[in-house]
Amino acid sequence: MRKDKPSRTAYKVALNIITLGAKPGMDKIFPPGIVEATAKLLVASGLVSATVVRWCSSQIMVSVYEAFDWMIPGQFEAFAHRKAFCERQVREGICKGATQVLILGAGYDTLGWRLAPEFTGVEFFEIDHQATAQLKAKSIEAMGTRDNLHLISVDLSERRLANVLTANKSWDRAAQSVMLAEGLLMYLPDAAVRDLLSQCAAMTGAGSRIAFTYIGTNADGRPDAGPWTRLLLWSLKLNGEPWLWSIRPEQLNRFLEETGWMSAPELLGTNNKHGVEFFAVAVK
Ligand SMILES: C[S@@+](CC[C@H](N)C(=O)[O-])C[C@H]1O[C@@H](n2cnc3c(N)ncnc32)[C@H](O)[C@@H]1O
Repeated sequence: MRKDKPSRTAYKVALNIITLGAKPGMDKIFPPGIVEATAKLLVASGLVSATVVRWCSSQIMVSVYEAFDWMIPGQFEAFAHRKAFCERQVREGICKGATQVLILGAGYDTLGWRLAPEFTGVEFFEIDHQATAQLKAKSIEAMGTRDNLHLISVDLSERRLANVLTANKSWDRAAQSVMLAEGLLMYLPDAAVRDLLSQCAAMTGAGSRIAFTYIGTNADGRPDAGPWTRLLLWSLKLNGEPWLWSIRPEQLNRFLEETGWMSAPELLGTNNKHGVEFFAVAVK
């Protein structure tokens, strides 16, 4: 992954959300306010203009995205399901007593910014690479900062999460927490995923949960990116953000147990697959 430039994939996710928001019926799936907040964030960041946002919200762009769905069938709409899944996990976790939310590889996600004023007793944390996190911080500054939203800029391949959180005075490792790793784990090598999940378990209190998305593994051992796997993996690599980690769903429970988590199939949305991504939740 290129560390000196803001993440391209995070940008693409945000653009996808804006266009998908214009597709009829998606308002029933997307969390309320997410499309507008994402557009606001992208404009405030200077990545796009209001005119580009209007273009992205046109039915022509919806058709363009739909036309490209042949490459990864279902992936266009998958982002709405993914956002809904993550937000549901956060809301449910808070409802059950969580007082901290940590979004790993947050990109241009707006969950923390939107939910922080609603849950003033909850501390929200976001972590991303410096280039992406700094651009996001600039946008949040323009949109309105939240006292209980902490943006941390760090490369998790260079600094351990446990050290980053220990150094942050607002983080309480004994508190019940919700961790999110949405569209992140596939970009990390196997050992890093294992280590990250173990650290998430070590840095949170009883009753915590982690919600994440992941890519399944093909029979040939490569990440399963659908019918055009070879082409897609090649283009991701070319863009400097290759997929490095995938796992067979039937091996996930064991993997989670080895990292201090327990799979929680009873929690809403777990084990769903949209596009090429599986959704999962684990608890402590
Ligand atoms: C595909 S984007 C997903 C963004 C966001 N979670 C979403 O779904 O809207 C992946 C994000 O993970 C971040 N990321 C990847 N590797 C990272 C690392 N080693 N340290 C910090 N952030 C990382 C990227 O900068 C990027 O913002």
